[in-house]
Amino acid sequence: MNNIIDVNIDKIYEAVPASTVNALKGEIEAANKMLYDGNGKGNDFLGWVGLPQSITPEEIDTIKKCAASLDSLAEVIVVVGIGGSYLGAKAVLEAMSDSFQLLHKKQDKPIIVFAGQNLSEDYIYELLAALQPYKIATIVISKSGTTTEPAVAFRILKKEIEKRYGKEEASKRIVAVTDMAKGALRTLATQERYATFVIPDNVGGRFSVLTPVGLLPLAAAGINIAELVRGAQDMAKATGPDVPFEKNPSAIYAAARTALYRKGYKIEILASYNPKLQYVSEWWKQLYGESEGKEGQGIFPASVTLTADLHSMGQYIQQGERSLIETVISISKPAHSVVIESDAENLDGLNFLAGKRVSEVNRMAEIGTMLAHVDGGVPNISITLPEINEYYIGALLYFFEKACGMSGYALGVNPFDQPGVEAYKKNMFALLNKPGYEAAGEELRKRL
Ligand code: PA5
Repeated sequence: MNNIIDVNIDKIYEAVPASTVNALKGEIEAANKMLYDGNGKGNDFLGWVGLPQSITPEEIDTIKKCAASLDSLAEVIVVVGIGGSYLGAKAVLEAMSDSFQLLHKKQDKPIIVFAGQNLSEDYIYELLAALQPYKIATIVISKSGTTTEPAVAFRILKKEIEKRYGKEEASKRIVAVTDMAKGALRTLATQERYATFVIPDNVGGRFSVLTPVGLLPLAAAGINIAELVRGAQDMAKATGPDVPFEKNPSAIYAAARTALYRKGYKIEILASYNPKLQYVSEWWKQLYGESEGKEGQGIFPASVTLTADLHSMGQYIQQGERSLIETVISISKPAHSVVIESDAENLDGLNFLAGKRVSEVNRMAEIGTMLAHVDGGVPNISITLPEINEYYIGALLYFFEKACGMSGYALGVNPFDQPGVEAYKKNMFALLNKPGYEAAGEELRKRL
C-alpha cells in the first residue's frame, strides 16, 4: 500500500494478465520522464507537473488575504467560470462541504455559488433573484478571458454589483483570475482596477485546480488550501520520475487503463460510494475526456455515484455491452458514525443490521458490487483514500493528473490540447452573427 492512497489492480487480471500490465513498465516510466524532461507533445503546458512544489507559503497567504477581504464584504460569492476554470473548485468544495450546509442556519463563511458554466437563462435569472437579500461579491475565472459562457454571466453579474454598490465599491467586490497579459478579461480587469490573480501560461485549464483558479474560491469557502497543496506535494513526490513503476500509484493506474484500452475496453466508469465525490468525478471526466479523446482515440470517461446508480446504471454495468472498466474511489474511514439500532418489532426485517454502522453496510455493498461486476466481465481498479480531507483530496487530484499525463503519452496523443472544443464555438458564433462569422452563419442556416 502506498502511504497516501492505495491503487489495487488485482481485479483486472481476468481481462489482462499482470504480465501485460508489467510489460508497460518501460513505456509508462518513459512517459513519466517525458513529463519532467519536457520533450513530449504539448510540452509548453507542463507547468502543472512541478506546480505543487512551486507554491510558496507567501502565495498561499496572498490568496487567503484576498479571500478574507471578499469574505468580509459578502455573504454570497459567485464564482464564474467553466470547464477547468470551474470543476476543480467545485469538486473540492463539494468533497469538503457538509452535504446539508444550506440547512444550517449559521454560516461562518460566505456561501459559494457558481455561474458561467452554462447558458441557461433560467439559471441566471434564478441566481439573480436568489442573490437579492444577500451582500455579494464575485470571482471571475477565465484563462483565455474570452470564453462565452463565463463572459455572458460576468457581464450580467458585473452590472448587478455596480447597480447595487456603485463602480468604485464594485471594484473591491470583484476579483479576476486570468492570463497575465492576454484576453478581454485581463483588459477589463486592468481598466476597472480589479484585484487579479494570474493563471500561468504553461498550465492548461483542466490542470489548474492548484493555481488561484481553484485555490482562491476554495480559500473563500474556508477550505484549508495549505493542506490541499501539501497533499498534492506529497503525491508529486510519490509519483516522481525516480519512483519505481511498482511503487508509483499513478504509473500503476496509467498502465492498467492503457492495457485494458488496448485489449478493447473503451469506457471507464469512475464510481464512488460517497456522494461528496460526485464532482471529483466531473472534474476527472474533463481531465481524461479532454486529454485523451482525440485523433479517433481514447477511453470514454463516465461516472456513477453508488449505491444510487446501482438502481439505474447498475443493470447496464452488470449485463450491457462488455467494453467497460470500473474504477472505484473508496474511502476507508467516514468522518462521522451512525449506528443502526435494533427494533423490537422488526417490521422492516432489518434487525440483522442492528449494531452495525451505515458505513459497514455501504462497504459490503461496495465489495458485493465489485465482485458482481467483475463476474459480469467488468475489470475493476480500486483507489482507496484513508479519509476525505483536504490533504487526501489534494493528493487524489494530483494522482489523477499525473496518471493522465502518462496515459495520454502512452496513447500517443498530445494530452494538453483540446482542439475539438473549438468546433461548437465556431458554429455558435456563426449562428449568433459574431462579426467575422457572417458567411459561416449563412452556410449553417442553410442546413437547418
Ligand atoms: O481544459 C481547458 O482548457 C478548457 O476546458 C477550459 O478550462 C475551458 O474551456 C474554460 O476556458 P477559460 O478558462 O479560458 O475560460
